[in-house]
Amino acid sequence: MRTVVSRLIHCRSSISRLAEMTKSTNGRYQSTEPDEVDEPYKVKEAETVNVPPLPTEKLLVLGGNGFVGSHICREALDRGLSVASLSRSGRSSLHDSWANNVTWYKGNLLSADSWKEALNGVTAVISCVGGFGSNSYMYKINGTANINAIRAASEQGVKRFAYISAADFGVANYLLQGYYEGKRAAETELLTKFPYGGVILRPGFIYGTRSVGSMKIPLSVVGSPLEMVLQQARPLSQLPLVGPLFTPPVNVTSLAKVAVRAATDPVFPPGIVDVYGIQRYSQHKSK
Ligand SMILES: NC(=O)c1ccc[n+]([C@@H]2O[C@H](COP(=O)([O-])OP(=O)(O)OC[C@H]3O[C@@H](n4cnc5c(N)ncnc54)[C@H](OP(=O)(O)O)[C@@H]3O)[C@@H](O)[C@H]2O)c1
Repeated sequence: MRTVVSRLIHCRSSISRLAEMTKSTNGRYQSTEPDEVDEPYKVKEAETVNVPPLPTEKLLVLGGNGFVGSHICREALDRGLSVASLSRSGRSSLHDSWANNVTWYKGNLLSADSWKEALNGVTAVISCVGGFGSNSYMYKINGTANINAIRAASEQGVKRFAYISAADFGVANYLLQGYYEGKRAAETELLTKFPYGGVILRPGFIYGTRSVGSMKIPLSVVGSPLEMVLQQARPLSQLPLVGPLFTPPVNVTSLAKVAVRAATDPVFPPGIVDVYGIQRYSQHKSK
């Protein structure tokens, strides 16, 4: 928009000259006199300068105070988006300065209406809500909570929704049945309600710096070298049963970049993005 406006401004003198010429040649079209203005020339450049900027995207991060969610909030703020977060504890223990620029909502996705006002004016949602516990708890937190969010966002007319899911872990899928069943149920709901703007990111282990209170835990110490090694061992990930254990870990900053893009770039393809896709997209230059 700015480029167009500045071009219009730079063109102003030439347009005026052209108008004068036109007037003098056939006396019918654009005049610079306000009372003689014909429709096509009525688009006055000076007026467009005062038009307020297009409303920016408003992103709601579900679980924005968690490990992945906080990196997503930072990435989105860096990209100039307006950012809100919703979780049961609200802002929680985050002391970093960027956190002052996020609107923090407290609410539980499992309780009917305690959180819906957080969706007001929201154009895109990223859900990082998930967790571990008993099978029924895992189903609720990974499945039901996200399904509730997806339905409410769709009813509110949210354009795009990205969901941080998880890669299969072969044998571990049986041990964490509620976790994986919940994830897959939420994925199905997302593809149904957001066929054109729903993106499912399926990372394996995510590494980076995890804040616990004022402590920073550098998971990269293990994750980064492991990612390098396992990236070269992609054929091993195709092995039956144990293959998924060779899925390379993903850097949380890369995941955050891809998630923000998936939720805000209208041409980002909908559907499932696996670990290798996340790595590939994270290497693309941001617009
Ligand atoms: N970390 C990994 O290595 C990894 C790997 C693969 C996939 N994932 C997936 O990535 C996502 C993010 O993981 P993470 O490590 O960032 O987890 P996390 O730090 O535990 O974050 C989970 C977030 O969900 C919020 N939450 C939980 N239940 C909620 C509810 N009922 N209503 C509203 N908010 C709720 C939590 O905040 P409150 O407690 O304040 O509500 C927290 O902000 C999860 O879905 C996880 O399954 C993680």
